[in-house]
Amino acid sequence: MKNRIDFNEVVTRDGFQNEALFIPTDKKIELINQLSQCGFAKIEVTSFTSPKAIPMLADATEVMQGIRRVQGVEYTVLIPNLRGAERAMQVNPDELNLVMSTSQSHNFSNMRMSMESSFASLAEVIHFVDQKIVINVSLSTAFGCPMEGYVDPKIVIDLIARFNDLGVDRLTICDTTGMANPEQVAQMAQLVTNLFPKTAFTFHFHNTRGMGLANLMSAIQNGITQFDGSLGGLGGCPYAPGATGNICSEDAIYMTQLMGHQTSIDIIQLLESAKFLETLVGRTLPGQIVKAGTIECLHSVSAAVQELMSHQKS
Ligand code: COA
Ligand code: ZN
Repeated sequence: MKNRIDFNEVVTRDGFQNEALFIPTDKKIELINQLSQCGFAKIEVTSFTSPKAIPMLADATEVMQGIRRVQGVEYTVLIPNLRGAERAMQVNPDELNLVMSTSQSHNFSNMRMSMESSFASLAEVIHFVDQKIVINVSLSTAFGCPMEGYVDPKIVIDLIARFNDLGVDRLTICDTTGMANPEQVAQMAQLVTNLFPKTAFTFHFHNTRGMGLANLMSAIQNGITQFDGSLGGLGGCPYAPGATGNICSEDAIYMTQLMGHQTSIDIIQLLESAKFLETLVGRTLPGQIVKAGTIECLHSVSAAVQELMSHQKS
Protein backbone atom coordinates (compact mmCIF):
# COMPACT_ATOMS: atom_id res chain seq x y z
CA MET A 1 0.00 0.00 0.00
CA LYS A 2 1.17 3.55 -0.73
CA ASN A 3 2.12 5.84 2.15
CA ARG A 4 -0.36 8.41 3.37
CA ILE A 5 1.07 11.90 2.70
CA ASP A 6 0.26 14.82 5.00
CA PHE A 7 0.52 18.44 3.95
CA ASN A 8 1.07 21.58 5.98
CA GLU A 9 -0.29 24.65 4.17
CA VAL A 10 2.07 27.61 4.68
CA VAL A 11 0.68 30.21 2.27
CA THR A 12 -0.51 32.68 4.91
CA ARG A 13 2.98 32.67 6.52
CA ASP A 14 5.68 31.80 3.97
CA GLY A 15 3.51 33.02 1.10
CA PHE A 16 2.30 36.30 2.51
CA GLN A 17 5.54 37.41 4.24
CA ASN A 18 7.08 38.20 0.85
CA GLU A 19 4.15 40.19 -0.56
CA ALA A 20 4.64 43.93 -1.06
CA LEU A 21 1.04 45.05 -0.47
CA PHE A 22 -0.59 44.43 2.92
CA ILE A 23 -3.35 41.82 2.78
CA PRO A 24 -6.16 42.91 5.11
CA THR A 25 -6.64 40.86 8.28
CA ASP A 26 -10.21 39.82 7.40
CA LYS A 27 -9.05 38.48 4.01
CA LYS A 28 -6.30 36.44 5.70
CA ILE A 29 -8.92 35.01 8.07
CA GLU A 30 -11.29 34.23 5.19
CA LEU A 31 -8.56 32.34 3.32
CA ILE A 32 -7.53 30.33 6.40
CA ASN A 33 -11.18 29.45 7.08
CA GLN A 34 -11.47 28.15 3.52
CA LEU A 35 -8.24 26.14 3.86
CA SER A 36 -9.51 24.65 7.13
CA GLN A 37 -12.32 23.00 5.12
CA CYS A 38 -9.94 21.44 2.57
CA GLY A 39 -8.61 18.59 4.73
CA PHE A 40 -5.08 19.75 5.61
CA ALA A 41 -3.27 18.05 8.48
CA LYS A 42 -1.76 21.38 9.49
CA ILE A 43 -1.93 25.07 8.61
CA GLU A 44 0.87 27.52 9.40
CA VAL A 45 -1.33 30.49 10.13
CA THR A 46 1.16 33.31 10.69
CA SER A 47 4.39 34.25 12.47
CA PHE A 48 5.02 36.05 15.74
CA THR A 49 8.11 37.84 14.48
CA SER A 50 9.15 41.44 14.93
CA PRO A 51 6.58 43.60 13.06
CA LYS A 52 9.52 45.70 11.88
CA ALA A 53 11.09 42.61 10.28
CA ILE A 54 7.84 41.23 8.78
CA PRO A 55 5.19 44.02 8.68
CA MET A 56 2.78 41.82 6.68
CA LEU A 57 2.29 39.55 9.70
CA ALA A 58 2.00 42.27 12.35
CA ASP A 59 -1.66 41.21 12.78
CA ALA A 60 -0.72 37.67 13.97
CA THR A 61 -2.77 37.92 17.20
CA GLU A 62 -5.90 39.20 15.44
CA VAL A 63 -5.65 36.50 12.76
CA MET A 64 -5.25 33.70 15.33
CA GLN A 65 -8.19 35.07 17.32
CA GLY A 66 -10.36 35.53 14.20
CA ILE A 67 -10.11 32.10 12.54
CA ARG A 68 -12.65 29.29 13.01
CA ARG A 69 -10.67 26.22 14.00
CA VAL A 70 -11.66 22.83 12.63
CA GLN A 71 -11.10 19.71 14.69
CA GLY A 72 -8.34 17.52 13.29
CA VAL A 73 -6.41 20.44 11.79
CA GLU A 74 -3.30 21.58 13.67
CA TYR A 75 -2.79 25.35 13.70
CA THR A 76 0.89 26.24 13.93
CA VAL A 77 2.75 29.57 14.08
CA LEU A 78 6.36 30.51 13.31
CA ILE A 79 8.44 31.81 16.24
CA PRO A 80 11.94 33.37 16.11
CA ASN A 81 12.49 34.14 19.82
CA LEU A 82 11.07 34.24 23.37
CA ARG A 83 9.10 37.43 22.73
CA GLY A 84 7.35 35.64 19.86
CA ALA A 85 6.55 32.61 22.02
CA GLU A 86 5.11 34.82 24.78
CA ARG A 87 2.83 36.55 22.27
CA ALA A 88 1.80 33.24 20.65
CA MET A 89 0.96 31.57 23.98
CA GLN A 90 -1.83 34.14 24.43
CA VAL A 91 -3.73 32.69 21.46
CA ASN A 92 -3.32 28.92 22.02
CA PRO A 93 -1.72 27.58 18.86
CA ASP A 94 -1.49 23.77 18.57
CA GLU A 95 2.20 23.96 17.71
CA LEU A 96 5.07 26.46 17.78
CA ASN A 97 7.36 26.27 14.76
CA LEU A 98 10.74 27.59 15.89
CA VAL A 99 13.13 28.63 13.14
CA MET A 100 16.85 29.05 12.62
CA SER A 101 19.24 28.60 9.69
CA THR A 102 21.99 26.07 9.11
CA SER A 103 24.30 28.75 7.63
CA GLN A 104 25.72 31.78 9.43
CA SER A 105 25.11 34.32 6.64
CA HIS A 106 21.46 33.40 6.27
CA ASN A 107 20.93 33.33 10.03
CA PHE A 108 22.50 36.78 10.41
CA SER A 109 20.35 38.08 7.50
CA ASN A 110 17.14 36.53 8.79
CA MET A 111 17.56 36.57 12.58
CA ARG A 112 20.22 39.27 12.93
CA MET A 113 22.32 36.99 15.12
CA SER A 114 24.74 34.04 14.93
CA MET A 115 23.54 30.44 14.71
CA GLU A 116 24.78 29.84 18.29
CA SER A 117 22.77 32.84 19.56
CA SER A 118 19.69 31.57 17.70
CA PHE A 119 20.14 28.08 19.15
CA ALA A 120 20.45 29.57 22.66
CA SER A 121 17.37 31.74 22.05
CA LEU A 122 15.32 28.75 20.82
CA ALA A 123 16.53 26.62 23.76
CA GLU A 124 15.20 29.40 26.02
CA VAL A 125 11.83 29.19 24.23
CA ILE A 126 11.73 25.39 24.62
CA HIS A 127 12.35 25.70 28.39
CA PHE A 128 9.77 28.49 28.66
CA VAL A 129 7.09 26.46 26.83
CA ASP A 130 7.88 23.49 29.10
CA GLN A 131 5.90 20.95 26.99
CA LYS A 132 2.66 22.94 27.25
CA ILE A 133 2.60 23.21 23.45
CA VAL A 134 4.12 20.86 20.88
CA ILE A 135 7.30 22.21 19.31
CA ASN A 136 8.58 21.81 15.76
CA VAL A 137 11.93 23.23 14.68
CA SER A 138 12.46 24.36 11.08
CA LEU A 139 16.06 24.33 9.88
CA SER A 140 16.41 26.81 7.01
CA THR A 141 18.94 26.58 4.13
CA ALA A 142 19.56 22.89 4.99
CA PHE A 143 20.37 21.98 1.37
CA GLY A 144 22.28 25.14 0.49
CA CYS A 145 22.60 28.81 1.41
CA PRO A 146 22.17 31.62 -1.15
CA MET A 147 25.26 33.38 0.27
CA GLU A 148 27.53 30.46 1.26
CA GLY A 149 26.51 27.72 -1.18
CA TYR A 150 26.52 24.03 -0.23
CA VAL A 151 25.68 23.29 3.42
CA ASP A 152 27.39 20.23 4.88
CA PRO A 153 24.71 17.75 6.09
CA LYS A 154 26.86 17.30 9.24
CA ILE A 155 25.70 20.77 10.35
CA VAL A 156 22.06 19.72 9.88
CA ILE A 157 22.62 16.41 11.69
CA ASP A 158 24.36 18.15 14.58
CA LEU A 159 21.47 20.60 15.04
CA ILE A 160 18.84 17.83 14.84
CA ALA A 161 20.73 15.92 17.57
CA ARG A 162 20.98 19.02 19.78
CA PHE A 163 17.26 19.79 19.42
CA ASN A 164 16.46 16.09 20.09
CA ASP A 165 18.44 16.45 23.34
CA LEU A 166 16.11 19.32 24.29
CA GLY A 167 13.09 17.04 23.74
CA VAL A 168 12.13 18.23 20.23
CA ASP A 169 10.87 15.34 18.11
CA ARG A 170 9.45 17.25 15.13
CA LEU A 171 11.82 18.91 12.65
CA THR A 172 11.39 20.48 9.23
CA ILE A 173 14.28 20.33 6.78
CA CYS A 174 13.97 23.41 4.58
CA ASP A 175 15.28 24.10 1.11
CA THR A 176 14.68 27.82 1.63
CA THR A 177 15.91 29.02 -1.76
CA GLY A 178 15.45 25.97 -3.98
CA MET A 179 19.07 24.78 -4.02
CA ALA A 180 18.32 21.07 -3.55
CA ASN A 181 18.27 18.44 -6.30
CA PRO A 182 16.49 15.05 -6.13
CA GLU A 183 19.68 13.06 -5.48
CA GLN A 184 20.65 15.33 -2.58
CA VAL A 185 17.11 15.04 -1.19
CA ALA A 186 17.28 11.23 -1.36
CA GLN A 187 20.57 11.27 0.57
CA MET A 188 19.23 13.71 3.18
CA ALA A 189 16.01 11.71 3.63
CA GLN A 190 17.93 8.46 4.13
CA LEU A 191 20.44 10.10 6.46
CA VAL A 192 17.95 11.74 8.80
CA THR A 193 15.46 8.87 8.94
CA ASN A 194 18.23 6.32 9.60
CA LEU A 195 19.94 8.41 12.27
CA PHE A 196 16.76 9.68 13.96
CA PRO A 197 14.06 7.02 13.49
CA LYS A 198 11.87 8.44 16.27
CA THR A 199 11.81 12.01 14.90
CA ALA A 200 8.92 13.17 12.70
CA PHE A 201 10.47 14.92 9.70
CA THR A 202 8.74 17.36 7.36
CA PHE A 203 10.47 18.45 4.15
CA HIS A 204 9.99 22.02 2.90
CA PHE A 205 10.81 22.78 -0.73
CA HIS A 206 10.90 25.92 -2.84
CA ASN A 207 10.61 25.72 -6.61
CA THR A 208 13.22 28.42 -7.27
CA ARG A 209 15.09 26.29 -9.80
CA GLY A 210 12.16 24.21 -11.06
CA MET A 211 13.07 21.08 -9.07
CA GLY A 212 10.37 21.34 -6.40
CA LEU A 213 8.11 18.47 -7.47
CA ALA A 214 11.06 16.25 -8.42
CA ASN A 215 12.45 16.84 -4.92
CA LEU A 216 9.05 15.99 -3.41
CA MET A 217 8.97 12.71 -5.39
CA SER A 218 12.48 11.86 -4.29
CA ALA A 219 11.61 12.50 -0.64
CA ILE A 220 8.45 10.34 -0.89
CA GLN A 221 10.44 7.50 -2.48
CA ASN A 222 12.81 7.72 0.48
CA GLY A 223 10.17 7.46 3.17
CA ILE A 224 9.25 11.09 3.97
CA THR A 225 5.48 11.52 4.44
CA GLN A 226 5.06 15.12 5.65
CA PHE A 227 5.52 18.19 3.48
CA ASP A 228 5.03 21.94 3.52
CA GLY A 229 3.41 23.52 0.49
CA SER A 230 2.06 26.94 -0.40
CA LEU A 231 -1.20 27.60 -2.22
CA GLY A 232 -0.57 28.87 -5.75
CA GLY A 233 3.19 28.43 -5.24
CA LEU A 234 3.32 31.78 -3.44
CA GLY A 235 6.25 32.31 -1.10
CA GLY A 236 9.88 33.18 -0.56
CA CYS A 237 12.16 34.46 2.13
CA PRO A 238 12.54 38.25 2.31
CA TYR A 239 16.10 37.74 3.58
CA ALA A 240 17.27 35.38 0.84
CA PRO A 241 18.20 37.05 -2.46
CA GLY A 242 16.31 35.59 -5.42
CA ALA A 243 14.09 33.35 -3.33
CA THR A 244 10.82 32.45 -5.03
CA GLY A 245 7.77 30.44 -4.14
CA ASN A 246 7.34 27.19 -2.26
CA ILE A 247 6.18 24.12 -4.10
CA CYS A 248 2.60 24.78 -5.11
CA SER A 249 0.28 22.91 -2.69
CA GLU A 250 -2.45 22.03 -5.15
CA ASP A 251 0.00 20.79 -7.82
CA ALA A 252 1.97 18.75 -5.28
CA ILE A 253 -1.14 17.32 -3.63
CA TYR A 254 -2.78 16.46 -6.92
CA MET A 255 0.36 14.70 -8.13
CA THR A 256 0.54 12.56 -4.98
CA GLN A 257 -3.19 11.76 -5.22
CA LEU A 258 -2.89 10.67 -8.87
CA MET A 259 -0.02 8.42 -7.83
CA GLY A 260 -2.30 6.64 -5.39
CA HIS A 261 -1.29 8.25 -2.08
CA GLN A 262 -3.99 9.17 0.38
CA THR A 263 -4.02 12.85 1.46
CA SER A 264 -7.60 13.55 2.68
CA ILE A 265 -7.50 16.85 0.78
CA ASP A 266 -10.40 17.98 -1.38
CA ILE A 267 -8.56 19.14 -4.50
CA ILE A 268 -11.59 20.82 -6.10
CA GLN A 269 -12.20 22.95 -3.02
CA LEU A 270 -8.48 23.74 -2.85
CA LEU A 271 -8.50 24.96 -6.46
CA GLU A 272 -11.32 27.35 -5.55
CA SER A 273 -9.13 28.75 -2.75
CA ALA A 274 -6.22 29.09 -5.21
CA LYS A 275 -8.47 31.27 -7.41
CA PHE A 276 -9.50 33.33 -4.37
CA LEU A 277 -5.80 33.79 -3.49
CA GLU A 278 -5.13 35.24 -6.95
CA THR A 279 -7.78 37.89 -6.28
CA LEU A 280 -6.06 38.74 -2.97
CA VAL A 281 -2.59 39.23 -4.47
CA GLY A 282 -3.90 40.68 -7.74
CA ARG A 283 -1.94 38.48 -10.13
CA THR A 284 -1.75 35.06 -11.72
CA LEU A 285 0.30 32.59 -9.65
CA PRO A 286 2.57 29.76 -10.82
CA GLY A 287 0.15 26.90 -10.01
CA GLN A 288 -0.51 24.69 -13.06
CA ILE A 289 -3.60 22.64 -12.14
CA VAL A 290 -5.63 25.78 -11.50
CA LYS A 291 -4.99 26.75 -15.14
CA ALA A 292 -5.26 23.33 -16.82
CA GLY A 293 -7.90 21.78 -14.53
CA THR A 294 -7.77 18.21 -13.21
CA ILE A 295 -7.39 15.37 -15.70
CA GLU A 296 -11.15 14.84 -15.56
CA CYS A 297 -11.60 18.23 -17.27
CA LEU A 298 -11.75 16.85 -20.81
CA HIS A 299 -12.27 18.95 -23.92
CA SER A 300 -14.99 18.25 -26.46
CA VAL A 301 -13.95 17.06 -29.88
CA SER A 302 -14.43 19.77 -32.52
CA ALA A 303 -17.03 19.29 -35.24
CA ALA A 304 -14.31 19.09 -37.90
CA VAL A 305 -12.46 16.32 -36.05
CA GLN A 306 -15.74 14.47 -35.41
CA GLU A 307 -16.40 14.59 -39.12
CA LEU A 308 -12.91 13.24 -39.87
CA MET A 309 -13.33 10.43 -37.34
CA SER A 310 -16.72 9.41 -38.74
CA HIS A 311 -15.25 9.11 -42.27
CA GLN A 312 -12.31 7.04 -41.05
CA LYS A 313 -14.66 4.57 -39.31
CA SER A 314 -16.61 3.84 -42.50
N1 COA B 1 7.48 39.97 18.29
C1 COA B 1 7.27 41.29 18.38
N2 COA B 1 8.26 42.20 18.53
C2 COA B 1 9.52 41.72 18.61
C3 COA B 1 9.80 40.36 18.54
C4 COA B 1 8.73 39.46 18.35
N3 COA B 1 8.92 38.16 18.25
N4 COA B 1 11.13 40.20 18.64
C5 COA B 1 11.66 41.42 18.78
N5 COA B 1 10.67 42.35 18.76
C6 COA B 1 10.81 43.79 18.86
C7 COA B 1 11.51 44.21 20.11
O1 COA B 1 10.60 44.36 21.16
C8 COA B 1 12.13 45.51 19.66
O2 COA B 1 11.13 46.52 19.65
P1 COA B 1 11.47 48.07 19.92
O3 COA B 1 12.42 48.49 18.81
O4 COA B 1 10.15 48.72 19.82
O5 COA B 1 12.11 48.06 21.26
C9 COA B 1 12.52 45.26 18.23
O6 COA B 1 11.64 44.22 17.78
C10 COA B 1 13.95 44.82 18.05
O7 COA B 1 14.23 43.77 18.94
P2 COA B 1 15.57 42.91 18.90
O8 COA B 1 15.55 41.87 19.93
O9 COA B 1 16.75 43.87 18.87
O10 COA B 1 15.42 42.15 17.57
P3 COA B 1 16.15 42.37 16.20
O11 COA B 1 15.82 43.70 15.62
O12 COA B 1 17.57 41.99 16.31
O13 COA B 1 15.36 41.26 15.34
C11 COA B 1 14.27 39.14 15.21
C12 COA B 1 15.50 39.88 15.63
C13 COA B 1 14.63 37.66 15.09
C14 COA B 1 13.18 39.32 16.21
C15 COA B 1 13.77 39.67 13.87
O14 COA B 1 14.84 39.75 12.97
C16 COA B 1 12.68 38.81 13.27
O15 COA B 1 11.55 38.83 13.73
N6 COA B 1 13.00 38.09 12.23
C17 COA B 1 12.05 37.19 11.60
C18 COA B 1 12.52 36.88 10.25
C19 COA B 1 11.53 35.99 9.54
O16 COA B 1 10.43 35.71 9.94
N7 COA B 1 11.97 35.54 8.36
C20 COA B 1 11.21 34.72 7.52
C21 COA B 1 10.91 33.39 8.08
S1 COA B 1 12.14 32.18 7.83
ZN1 ZN C 1 10.13 28.61 2.91
